[in-house]
Amino acid sequence: MDPISKTETPTKAPQANSKRCFIQTYGCQMNVYDSERMAEALVTAGYEQVESPEGADMVILNTCHIREKAVQKVYSYLGRVKPLKQKNDDMIVAVAGCVAQAEGAEIISRAPIVDMVFGPQTFQQLPDMLDKVNDLRARGEKARLVRTEFPAAEKFEALQSVARKPITRNPSAFVTVQEGCDKFCTFCVVPYTRGEEVSRDTQDIVAETRALVEQGVCEITLLGQNVNAWQDRQSGLRLDGLLRQLGDIAGVERLRFTTSHPRDMDDALIDAHGSNPKLMPYLHLPIQAGSDKILQAMNRQHTAADYLALVRRFRQARPDLALSSDFIVGFPGESDEDFDATMALIDEVKYAQAYSFKYSPRPGTPAADSPEQVDEAVKDARLQRLKTRLAEHQRQFNEAQIGRVLPVLFEKPSKKDGQMSGRSPYLQTVHVSMDEAMMSAVRGRVLPVKITTAFSFSMVGELADEDA
Ligand code: SAH
Ligand code: SF4
Ligand code: F3S
Repeated sequence: MDPISKTETPTKAPQANSKRCFIQTYGCQMNVYDSERMAEALVTAGYEQVESPEGADMVILNTCHIREKAVQKVYSYLGRVKPLKQKNDDMIVAVAGCVAQAEGAEIISRAPIVDMVFGPQTFQQLPDMLDKVNDLRARGEKARLVRTEFPAAEKFEALQSVARKPITRNPSAFVTVQEGCDKFCTFCVVPYTRGEEVSRDTQDIVAETRALVEQGVCEITLLGQNVNAWQDRQSGLRLDGLLRQLGDIAGVERLRFTTSHPRDMDDALIDAHGSNPKLMPYLHLPIQAGSDKILQAMNRQHTAADYLALVRRFRQARPDLALSSDFIVGFPGESDEDFDATMALIDEVKYAQAYSFKYSPRPGTPAADSPEQVDEAVKDARLQRLKTRLAEHQRQFNEAQIGRVLPVLFEKPSKKDGQMSGRSPYLQTVHVSMDEAMMSAVRGRVLPVKITTAFSFSMVGELADEDA
């Protein structure tokens, strides 16, 4: 899961009579998905999305609490919104997501411009909250709504009853299938901000996928904090079975899932990588650290050898599998030898891509109280070394594709003019030069591309013959 991005939810130009809403999203893909669903719920309430908070009638901050400065970031953003609200007294300001869950009413007392605070499991109540804010304002009262309960099952029911509204979509879409986490890794806030593990029903996931396909989506990424813990509560179906059912839907060309926990991996899901033709050869399987001492202190409940054995089984099922991971450097008690074990592990696995972070003590988590905190300068140096080596491996993985013809799903124009960008099966970004007419013709299609150049974080190619 990419927990560092700051993402803009797809937008549409506002119509003259509709109200304007701006959503700023921080954090992982689950927040991106939640923001999209908020945008859809707001369509019903008469709002259109806009691309900046200036001139908006509503501003929602969908927040992430995973690392330090999360809370400061929220207050500094609210500081930016304050003068806008002073210009437009009718503006509604909301703080949503994982910081909202953790801080609750504290946010409203520290930032009086905020009208509502709601957690990741309560955003389906958004239309109702809007009505309440408007009622209170009509009576001359200030709204101070705080909704931070954990009714995850209720959220899933609500998601099912609200059909996915046609907002502007990428050809690739997220579908949340599992929420929450019961693992309690000693560094992590997610079990506290997202609540316990809950799986969504198969029929709802299938219905949502069909609705997305009707809107032109052809790649679905199933999301969950521990997506491979997904299990249908009635039938007992596991993720491999769900992927098979979704792959049978006409129009679904590619399937992915993230994030998996090594502990929840089963044989059937490993085999699916060799037998399900729609399942892409890419697996995000975080290990965090290569030392058993640190893995144990993190409460990951597996060893480095267990993880490497899993990787071998995956590669037997799908030899060209691209592997990805998350790493934390400078976890309390991490010695030079422990860190060397992480470097040795990455040299053995040779990841196609990875995210790495400095350990950040989170309030309320056990590791934050450890007396063995690692020096910031040591963390910086380790992160630098790790990132350099990971980028080398990534470049090697990309360079190995030069000369190959890969099926690329074209998504959007690249930042550089005259280029369209898409994703290879291994989730690499591929840029291809073409004219404007061609750009609209290829958007949303999977086409063969011959790879000509490779960098650490992207590749360049040219369209190849369809039968190449
Ligand atoms: N459920 C996923 C991870 C979700 S959080 C898993 O278990 O793999 C995404 C990533 O953020 C984690 O994998 C971890 O690398 C990082 N992270 C979480 N808490 C952190 C902390 N306190 N400091 C630094 N990185 C952290
Ligand atoms: Fe956090 Fe661990 Fe749960 Fe992942 S498995 S969300 S790292 S507690
Ligand atoms: Fe952040 Fe919450 Fe996701 S803390 S990483 S937005 S689950």
